[in-house]
Amino acid sequence: MSSFETANVYDNSSHTYELRQSTCKDEVQSKHRVLSFFAGCGGLDLGFIGGVRFKDEVLPEQPFHIVSAYDFEPRAVDTYRMNIGHHAEVKDLSEAEPEHLPEADVLIGGFPCQDFSISGPRVGLDSERGNLYMAMVNYMRYHRPKVVVAENVPHLAKIDGGSVMKTILFDLESAGYRFEMWPLFAPDYGVPQNRSRLFLIGVRDDIVGHPVMPVPTHKEKHRSIDWAIEDLERIDDETVPNQSQYFKAAVAKDRGRRRSQGDETCMPGVPSYTIRANSRSRIQFHYKLPRRLTVRECARLQTFPDGFVFPFSTTANMKQIGNAVPPLLANHVAKSIADFMENLL
Ligand SMILES: C[S@@+](CC[C@H](N)C(=O)[O-])C[C@H]1O[C@@H](n2cnc3c(N)ncnc32)[C@H](O)[C@@H]1O
Repeated sequence: MSSFETANVYDNSSHTYELRQSTCKDEVQSKHRVLSFFAGCGGLDLGFIGGVRFKDEVLPEQPFHIVSAYDFEPRAVDTYRMNIGHHAEVKDLSEAEPEHLPEADVLIGGFPCQDFSISGPRVGLDSERGNLYMAMVNYMRYHRPKVVVAENVPHLAKIDGGSVMKTILFDLESAGYRFEMWPLFAPDYGVPQNRSRLFLIGVRDDIVGHPVMPVPTHKEKHRSIDWAIEDLERIDDETVPNQSQYFKAAVAKDRGRRRSQGDETCMPGVPSYTIRANSRSRIQFHYKLPRRLTVRECARLQTFPDGFVFPFSTTANMKQIGNAVPPLLANHVAKSIADFMENLL
């Protein structure tokens, strides 16, 4: 276990964003230990750490220390390590043995959702990917973290008339936990993008009470796509990282036949379409400019700080961004968990 925490921190004076290593051991030890499964590039984790800037606000720092984060996609781990910290490692969680993983107070993980997603091939629980939540269950049985945060798409609750969700909840609760479902609509929490996510919040059986679903902060005042990216309209180079990166096809290949998902033009004044991981070069068109959205614009719509750099091809970067939980939404969830844990003995 590392005694020190690393975090990518925005420096207000230099307007840069850099990896800092805290040398304050006491501060790290006073935080709740978190283990992150299926961490991707780290959207959920960044929200749990907090203390980073998104546009004019700084996400509140949360009392969590991420001990280790795992993903089996090396490029996602590279992005995580470059931007958040060196506690991320490449690991296939379908083969992980809990006894070889560190203990933690909180387990977080957006278990792979493609097989459940409305935009992915719906294979459900039969596939190996569909079963990966069992890696979380195995960890819970062995290490008994106090709180568990599992995340997926809301559609999960509807597959096969709800029977897939029922099985997943049964398996999670059989590990000795009580779960509640939080369906959260990201624009209600200040995210300038239409994105819904389902959080499954579990508390160990011997612990009284449950975290409270975060109260929406932007319910009647959703932030729009132009609020989020208007200042990037005149920038077409890398003075803002990833702003020159976009899918160049100006016109969709199947235009004239059927306008399919991803070929729409965004509307100003409202939140953007959902930023998808499986975009196959189809990221929606800018509301004003004759091109698709850039990697940076998509990162903004997901509430990543501008200094969070995606170092790969447009396709690989868009996949990592589209897979992520918006850090701002994750920060609201983390705050609710932190408030609950503050009162535990
Ligand atoms: C929905 S994404 C999670 C995104 C992340 N929560 C975030 O906010 O950035 C699911 C992740 O699970 C990873 N994954 C899929 N199968 C895996 C496995 N067998 N072991 C480890 N990671 C896996 C994928 O590479 C992907 O990054």
